[in-house]
Amino acid sequence: MREHVLSVVLLFCSSVALFAQGDKITRGPYLQLGTPNSIIVRWRTAGTNTSVVYYGLRAEKLDQKTKSAGILAEHVVLLSELTPATKYFYTIGTTNGPLPGASTNSFVTSPESGTRKPIRVWVIGDPGTQFPQQRKVRDAYYKWTGKRHTDLWLMLGDNAYSFGRDSEYQGAIFDTYGKMLSQSVAWPTLGNHDARSADSKTQSGVYYDIFSLPTQGQAGGVMSGTEAYYSYNYGNVHFVCFNSCDIDRSPNGEMLKWLRIDLAANKLDWTVAYFHHPPYTKGSHTSDDVKGENTDLTEIRENVIPILEQGGTDLVLCGHSHDYERTPLLDGHYGRSNTLTDAHKKNKGNGQEDGDGPYRKPTLGPAPHEGTVYVVAGSSGKISGGELNHPAMCFSTNSLGSLVLDFNGPRMDATFLSEKAEKLDHFTIVKGEK
Ligand SMILES: [Fe+2]
Repeated sequence: MREHVLSVVLLFCSSVALFAQGDKITRGPYLQLGTPNSIIVRWRTAGTNTSVVYYGLRAEKLDQKTKSAGILAEHVVLLSELTPATKYFYTIGTTNGPLPGASTNSFVTSPESGTRKPIRVWVIGDPGTQFPQQRKVRDAYYKWTGKRHTDLWLMLGDNAYSFGRDSEYQGAIFDTYGKMLSQSVAWPTLGNHDARSADSKTQSGVYYDIFSLPTQGQAGGVMSGTEAYYSYNYGNVHFVCFNSCDIDRSPNGEMLKWLRIDLAANKLDWTVAYFHHPPYTKGSHTSDDVKGENTDLTEIRENVIPILEQGGTDLVLCGHSHDYERTPLLDGHYGRSNTLTDAHKKNKGNGQEDGDGPYRKPTLGPAPHEGTVYVVAGSSGKISGGELNHPAMCFSTNSLGSLVLDFNGPRMDATFLSEKAEKLDHFTIVKGEK
């Protein structure tokens, strides 16, 4: 009898402890896979519990709720039937109500595909060092953007050094960008360091456990059938995220077959492609592959860039080299740096309104070979030097920073912002004006 009572007491105590742990938030909330009508809210608790998001149009009236099945520590809740371009307030909780300590956050649903409205995008490359420099770059952007909402943000890979482990993601991403993660949807790509704890062929490992990415074209674009590469629309911008690390990059491989189909189906004003390995760089890596050490970069340049240019891509964003390098409007350069000629530059200027003037592309929409600007922005966590003398570049600097993109109808302004919130580079592309 005494043993029986003891068992009941122990069971009661362990249940209380489990629920207490289940109330303790250890990660998030963070937003994923935003579309005009839906968004995914994720978080982690120390123990298991139910998963409920309470939300509404006013912070003081969270009168709607969505529950996911199961009693889990990793919580993933899909909110659906939302109104496009609308601000919602939310908090995370259980079937008993909001979790203790959970704040009320907000998000804004994506506009309908094709809508022309001002869009701000924050881009970080190779951020995940957990060095003080990473936080300086973050704080510079937070200060610079102020109350202007970040509509979406991109991670260009090497998001968590050195092995992309869960604990490294905790420090480098979740403990660093909590505010941004809770209010703006993050759209990542895989870097070579992230790939040390993930496998793209099976879509398994830490990166794939952490992120909820579109496989079915849920946010626009052609379905890829895999989280390893995907596309989506935000307003009048088509974003293409592909994998430069651990997926077949051959011209007839599944990824590039999908890329051709996706770009051919796109009709939006702007096309932005991003992935980790840059086609042109002379930073901490070189794209010239002189010793056979950088075949990733060569394959990207030879196999992928022709498809992107044929598909009318306006902007290509990469990391990997821990610096900032930026070309003018370029087209048709698929060889080593010593094969570059002036003929590859559609516009040799700096693209600055207060300098040589904006880059102008005749067609508003995806027209082939009207020029692409290539940016390496891999210094959001550290800088690593390099010669920085690639002849395709019109500006290169060994400086910490992040990139900001502002779309407004037929105009796009890009700003490279230092860790001191200085504008180190900027350029403008205007489309649809002959
Ligand atoms: Fe890298």
